[in-house]
Amino acid sequence: MSEKEVKKNHIVIFDSTLRDAEQSPGASLNISEKVEIAHQLAKLNVDVIEAGFPVSSPVQFQAVQRIAREVEGPIIAGLARTVKKDIDSAAEALQNAKRWRIHTFTSTSKVHMEHMLRMSSDKVLAKAVEAVEYARSLTPDVEFSCQDATRTEQAFLREMVQAAIEAGATTINIPDTVGYGIPHDYAMMIADLVENVPGAKNIIISTHCHNDLGLATANSIAAVHAGARQIECTINGLGERAGNASLEECVMALSVRKDILKLETQIETAEIYRTSRMVARLMGIDVQPNKAIVGANAFAHESGIHVDGLLKNRETYEIMTPESVGVTKTKLVLGRHSGRHGFKVRCEELGFEMTEEILTEAYEKFLVLADKKKEVFDEDLIALLSDETEELKETFKLDYMQVSSGTATLPSATVRVLQGELILQQAAWGDGPVDAAFNAINAAINMQPKLEKYTISAVTAGKEAMGQAVVRIKEGGRIFVGHGVSTDIIEASTKAYINALNHMMAHSLESK
Ligand code: KIV
Ligand code: ZN
Repeated sequence: MSEKEVKKNHIVIFDSTLRDAEQSPGASLNISEKVEIAHQLAKLNVDVIEAGFPVSSPVQFQAVQRIAREVEGPIIAGLARTVKKDIDSAAEALQNAKRWRIHTFTSTSKVHMEHMLRMSSDKVLAKAVEAVEYARSLTPDVEFSCQDATRTEQAFLREMVQAAIEAGATTINIPDTVGYGIPHDYAMMIADLVENVPGAKNIIISTHCHNDLGLATANSIAAVHAGARQIECTINGLGERAGNASLEECVMALSVRKDILKLETQIETAEIYRTSRMVARLMGIDVQPNKAIVGANAFAHESGIHVDGLLKNRETYEIMTPESVGVTKTKLVLGRHSGRHGFKVRCEELGFEMTEEILTEAYEKFLVLADKKKEVFDEDLIALLSDETEELKETFKLDYMQVSSGTATLPSATVRVLQGELILQQAAWGDGPVDAAFNAINAAINMQPKLEKYTISAVTAGKEAMGQAVVRIKEGGRIFVGHGVSTDIIEASTKAYINALNHMMAHSLESK
């Protein structure tokens, strides 16, 4: 195959987890979490990381800037409206990346132009051209998006796409912003642009599908079948409202059905599961068990007929192997006698690269855990290491906690929290032991953030399994997520609450 043909068959995977997914309700991340996810996206080998919307806040700007400086491999993109100050801000944040892209967008549907932009279509077009030309004067890689394209009149869409190409856009994105498209229709819209807009064959036409009708992946695949060559997608399908097309679904559909699609991505599919877990953990949004590719049941077989078939030949009921997306069936990992070296090697295999200092601390925690649990599984290690490797300034530290509860007593808790040199100690009661512990912490630190969500789940099976708690709190209109693990579920919950408070404090420092 010639280089040109290879290129023709290559689908650019543009990941928008750090922009579209991150702006969805309750999914916000702090800067170091974004950087951590961006490094993992680089390992996954996505072509483009959309790192954020730099002009929208100082935290967004700094996150894009750090990703541009630190993350090697993918093109780093920043979002901008068709406004000079947005484009300048994106260009400044992206400056230090080896390869970077300005992604500028405006709305093109009547309803958006009339009610949101309050501009005539001529004015919208003129501003778009000006923005693309300006962005092109700053970088050779410019993407232009026609927001709400699927509800845009096709003649105007053609005109807009042609104008943006003439102004220098190298990628044109046709978003299904409100998840309104259906595969056949959306494919026809893409094919029409590819075929009929002058210059469209020399640039990349891109898809960006939302999932309001549950069709985001289907629409994206229909679009590439019709000539689009970039898919914008997110890990676990997270994003505004019902989410975006899921990266793992699009990539595996292209891989498993290469027989008819004849298209390729450069994704390291064995990194998919790890990336999915990382995003679920850091955003505090669980993956539904029956979610394609990465859900807990995606490779679980229960019924007798299926199990019988699988035992005879895996292909009877599996269209891809769990290993191909990084789901390993290795269960038993380590015990107390595995030693520091064995522990270090397994941590590295699980994708955690640690400094000697963090390794020492993590190993000590592992020994404590191995004393409590006979068998330490990969999932236990991942939970423990995720806690350990988090880069977060700890304003509050839990020093001591005592909780009492039972069928005939009012649940109560006493906590001692350290804030630098300060020792903060309080007692409180509540509806249950966890509520009592959270109330005591609130009293100690003299704060009352709103508890939005609290979940506790077992990391592995068995009664000695570690409990993994996730807490979401709301303060000043923002959500902060905290995690905690322990074989004691009250301790896991309390750690998660303190962790969420530390995220809240770190955010207020970052925003200053
Ligand atoms: O859904 C959408 O239209 C977007 C654009 C900003 C690309 O996210
Ligand atoms: Zn979107």
